[in-house]
Amino acid sequence: MAKLIYSSIASLDGYVADEAGNFDWAEPDEEVHAFINDLQRPVGTYLYGRRMYQTMAGWETDATLAARSELMRDFAQIWQAPDKIVYSRTLDTASTARTRIERDFDPEAVRQVKGSAGSDLTVGGPDLAAQVFAAGLVDECHLFFAPIIVGSGNQSLPDDVRVELELLDERRFGSGMVHLHYRVRA
Ligand SMILES: NC(=O)c1ccc[n+]([C@@H]2O[C@H](COP(=O)([O-])OP(=O)(O)OC[C@H]3O[C@@H](n4cnc5c(N)ncnc54)[C@H](OP(=O)(O)O)[C@@H]3O)[C@@H](O)[C@H]2O)c1
Repeated sequence: MAKLIYSSIASLDGYVADEAGNFDWAEPDEEVHAFINDLQRPVGTYLYGRRMYQTMAGWETDATLAARSELMRDFAQIWQAPDKIVYSRTLDTASTARTRIERDFDPEAVRQVKGSAGSDLTVGGPDLAAQVFAAGLVDECHLFFAPIIVGSGNQSLPDDVRVELELLDERRFGSGMVHLHYRVRA
């Protein structure tokens, strides 16, 4: 069965954005980007909270991003290929193709998408991800930690769920970023 994977890039103390909303310190260098491209390549469906979607949509709507390098062009193509389900009560229309907007997060509907999917799904955006964790729908996590402590901000992981994990893999990068790949224990 297809897996639902949460992935994020956070500070060492677990924030995807600092108190001021900045996350420039989370920007992957070429080595990390190449690794992320390979992780994302087989994914067939992205579930997004509206805020993360609006950040990522540039990979389809802003051609200057893909034009930066071969690696970025590869990522733009990878990002554009999957279906996207965006959760939002405020967004009227999506700015990208293959995208549908859902007004509510319905765990049963996601369970059905997962059951019929031919390839893995990812969830992006910590607000939405917290609900996906709470519904017991997350199978694996790809957690990247940047070498910085920012003190406060938007948490990558929810503080009101308990999830036991098995470490499947880990990797260190020249930039000081680390990647931890976990499986959620049943
Ligand atoms: N570290 C990095 O690499 C990185 C990269 C990009 C962005 N970021 C940061 O990531 C953060 C994303 O923000 P976030 O935690 O707010 O996450 P999010 O999950 O991406 O977006 C939250 C939004 O999703 C919608 N939503 C959530 N639950 C819903 C539900 N049950 N039904 C309908 N809609 C629902 C709502 O949109 P509406 O308000 O439209 O209803 C809500 O405001 C930001 O802080 C951003 O700066 C970090």
